[in-house]
Amino acid sequence: MKSLIFVSSNDHKYNEFRDGFKTHNISIIHMKREYPEIQGRNHNEVIINSIGGLISVIEPPFFVEDSGIEVQYLENFPSIYSSYVFKTIGLKGILNLLKDVENRSATFKSIVGYVDENYTIKIFEGKTEGEITLSPRGTGGFGYDPIFVPKDSTHTYAEMTIEQKNRISHRAKSIKQFLSYLTGTE
Ligand code: IMP
Repeated sequence: MKSLIFVSSNDHKYNEFRDGFKTHNISIIHMKREYPEIQGRNHNEVIINSIGGLISVIEPPFFVEDSGIEVQYLENFPSIYSSYVFKTIGLKGILNLLKDVENRSATFKSIVGYVDENYTIKIFEGKTEGEITLSPRGTGGFGYDPIFVPKDSTHTYAEMTIEQKNRISHRAKSIKQFLSYLTGTE
């Protein structure tokens, strides 16, 4: 079985990557650690910078992930500020910003940065469109999961099992791209 190192402080992300890769017989090793994330202009800048910092302390191959939610009515905010916004105004703050707003469209993005043994960096992106609920629903998952309902679903991410979320989520789609790259280069 092949194994891949995932550098992250987030157990939930690790669980989703582990589940997403298991069908391909790839095991994910969780290198659990925090690392500095710059406030870049976009996810790619954040990812490239994170990899640049980690390369001096961790020998490739490994991968990292940066994600965020974009709310259409808020001009795609919070996007790269999703983590800060979650820690500060939180779900309640986002719901307040959308009080009485009809357009609740939002897009979740997952950007994976993989650096291979030759120090080549590859970026994979997944996105899932959906809507922000009127109030939080569900107890599973993490972060914005209780207020995000993906398109064609009636459940929030937090009302789904990992397996269900992994059929439609932004992360499932970046995993799919990553997997097709890995299987194509074998
Ligand atoms: P980061 O990628 O760790 O910087 O995450 C950005 C923010 O988005 C954090 O507040 C996460 O909790 C949140 N987030 C990332 N992925 C997901 C997800 O799949 N569901 C819900 N929230 C998420």
